Amino acid sequence: MVKKLEQALSAIVGEGQVFAGAEIDERYKTDLTRKYSSEPAYVVRPASTEHVAAIVKLAAETGTPVTALSGRTGVVGGGVAVNGGIVLSLERMNSIVEIDTASMTMTVEAGCVLQTVQEAAEAEGAFLPLDLGARGSAMIGGVIATNAGGNRVVRWGMMRDMVIGLEAVLADGTVVSSLTKMLKDNAGYNWKHLLIGSEGTLAIITRAVLRLRPLPTSSQTAIVAVDNFEDVITVLRRLEAGLSGRLSSFELMWESFYQCITEANLPQRPRPLPSGSPFYALVEALGSNAEDDAAQFQRELEKVMETGLITDAVIASSEREREGLWAVREEMELGLAGCRPFYSFDVSMALAAMPAFSVAAEKNLRQVYPNASVMFYGHAGDGNLHAIVSVGEAGKEVQKAVDTAIFDAVRDVGGSIAAEHGIGQSRAPFLEWTRSAEELALMKMLKKALDPNNILNPGRLLDTK
Ligand code: LAC
Ligand code: ZN
Repeated sequence: MVKKLEQALSAIVGEGQVFAGAEIDERYKTDLTRKYSSEPAYVVRPASTEHVAAIVKLAAETGTPVTALSGRTGVVGGGVAVNGGIVLSLERMNSIVEIDTASMTMTVEAGCVLQTVQEAAEAEGAFLPLDLGARGSAMIGGVIATNAGGNRVVRWGMMRDMVIGLEAVLADGTVVSSLTKMLKDNAGYNWKHLLIGSEGTLAIITRAVLRLRPLPTSSQTAIVAVDNFEDVITVLRRLEAGLSGRLSSFELMWESFYQCITEANLPQRPRPLPSGSPFYALVEALGSNAEDDAAQFQRELEKVMETGLITDAVIASSEREREGLWAVREEMELGLAGCRPFYSFDVSMALAAMPAFSVAAEKNLRQVYPNASVMFYGHAGDGNLHAIVSVGEAGKEVQKAVDTAIFDAVRDVGGSIAAEHGIGQSRAPFLEWTRSAEELALMKMLKKALDPNNILNPGRLLDTK
């Protein structure tokens, strides 16, 4: 039977595209965090939607779980297959099918790397706004399946807001396709949006039509220092209004984060602003008229500075300096090395609730681990906060205690335990911290309707056991 399944998979995708048991490379067994790993029975690498459909049909007939795998940049164990399951790697489905600058759309296969897609759009004078630190590895299928967010949500929204058309394979192998280029389509239930963010548990995404925007030709970037959180909110709202809608990023860093990251990188480059301020925000505006845009940016920053809302600011005057400012936010590897082992979070809440949340989270943690350290940063413009927690030890019990401390604080402010990284395995036990019993029942109903035999990424997102 087992041999037969392997042969049947090979018959679909061809020689050399199925790996079994000991032949399976480590990279298919874990995710970025390496906290989750498994022993899948097969890795199979389809080259087309037809291949994916045939694989899923076979999996359905044999009752074998299937997990779609993209760029392996997940951090919640969502893309780690179950033991004995099939890893369906989309890496060969990496064609850019079409760029249509009249419709301002781009049709791509699920295995395209985000950065490749961004660059292909740019080569045609167009822009895919979604951007995140993992752009060099994350693939479109995973980005859609997790409804990724990232650095420019404050202006252009999340992946959900950029998907116009979608093609996916359902749990019985049926291909559903709506690769349209229309922004407006209210003909019945919008099944596309049900699949976006469903983490491979309702269908496997194979192709998408993405919405493009005019390519910005000018950028202004600054890091500003702010004394208190109330002022952070005012600065954000003033810049949103004052920059005529051009504000594209508003990345907030608490002092501890800023201090830690810039300290580590000091040998390579200077700290953009001295430390000692409670908050730092990386602010970026994108536009299409370099001279006017730069003047407007400077003027608006000066205005907020005159009112004392911003206490210090540095504006990048070259692309190199811009990269230096972004490095504070994106090149975290070195800075975080000293905090290992750590737990990271991506929670969201109303912006005004962030101070209460951060105080409560820290208090909850210290009750269990008096020496716990926690650093906050994140996409404040979207109400999305990241936390890096280290308590000096690791393990399942520690993780549970730390998760509980953070998620209790999230619940108390009516926030969400998962702003952008999804639920996967690690957040599944805490879904009810954010979702009501009725919502969970509805989710289970949907899962049952679309995947009655529970073969698509089982046990991820929802506890369906
Ligand atoms: C970030 C990732 C962790 O924003 O979401 O840095
Ligand atoms: Zn993030």
